[in-house]
Amino acid sequence: MSTVLQAHRDACDALLTRALEERGCEPELAAAIEYAVLAPGKRLRPALVRLANQCIGGELEKAEAPAAAVEMIHAFSLVHDDLPALDNDDLRRGRPTLHRHTDEATAILAGDAMPMLAMKLLAESPNGSAMCAVLAEATLRMIEGQMMDMAAEREALAADEHNLRSLQAGKTGALLVAAVQLGALSAKASAEQIKALNAWASHLGELFQLTDDLLDATASSEAMGKRTGKDEGKSKLTGVRVYGLTGLRDRIQNCRQEALNALQSFGPEASDLRLLTEEMADRSR
Ligand code: IPE
Ligand code: IPE
Ligand code: MG
Ligand code: MG
Ligand code: MG
Repeated sequence: MSTVLQAHRDACDALLTRALEERGCEPELAAAIEYAVLAPGKRLRPALVRLANQCIGGELEKAEAPAAAVEMIHAFSLVHDDLPALDNDDLRRGRPTLHRHTDEATAILAGDAMPMLAMKLLAESPNGSAMCAVLAEATLRMIEGQMMDMAAEREALAADEHNLRSLQAGKTGALLVAAVQLGALSAKASAEQIKALNAWASHLGELFQLTDDLLDATASSEAMGKRTGKDEGKSKLTGVRVYGLTGLRDRIQNCRQEALNALQSFGPEASDLRLLTEEMADRSR
């Protein structure tokens, strides 16, 4: 487990719990949303909001709403990603997927509700309209990336590096970049700081999805808390398919170096971002 993520985990869980309590939903819907959002994930995206805020020297409490909001969007993306019409998975974060735990209709509706909870939370917080615009745009990009993922699976998209990078920048990179942008917005970052953080997050996004692809091919379902070994059989457009296992490991190391280079203008205030980059490049779950 990443030491950087571990340090933010309890705070992220407390924020999410509070955010869900604030807008109580109809009990069955609330239970489904809680099951998906509070399940033991890594909490990478809310940690990124907090880390970006801290790197700029912001007040951490201003990062609370965006941190909770971006994780709710992520949790929604996982619930829908696991549905039978998409990846058809039965295990997520070490537990049955939401549609297996409840039923498909409940999982679809809980997934519909989560982004609305996220947007409402942001809209009611300081700098709300700028933050809503950033998160809505990133969510659209994530969904566009998922469309590409589905197109590739039915062989309607060429399995080349250009398409892989654009698919991954959408389905995974966009929310990571949005998380640091939200952290920067919560801390009044300068244009140069925003540019550097965005570049870092975009390399981290590529690195993160490529390691996800690598782990699908090499790690156990038990270690990952989700089914592995599925991408190849479904003809997914992945890093393994485009680069091969050895080439993929090299590409991950390049992304790691590119991400670290993007932080060159920062001093010790970015040391947690550097350590997180290393930890995500070496992750085993
Ligand atoms: C899984 O994301 C989906 C991808 C974008 C690869 P995470 O690996 O961050 O999932 P959790 O939040 O830890 O469950
Ligand atoms: C999912 O990518 C990305 C999103 C949920 C947007 P994957 O389909 O590779 O994620 P896992 O492997 O199921 O977590
Ligand atoms: Mg998928
Ligand atoms: Mg999936
Ligand atoms: Mg995957």
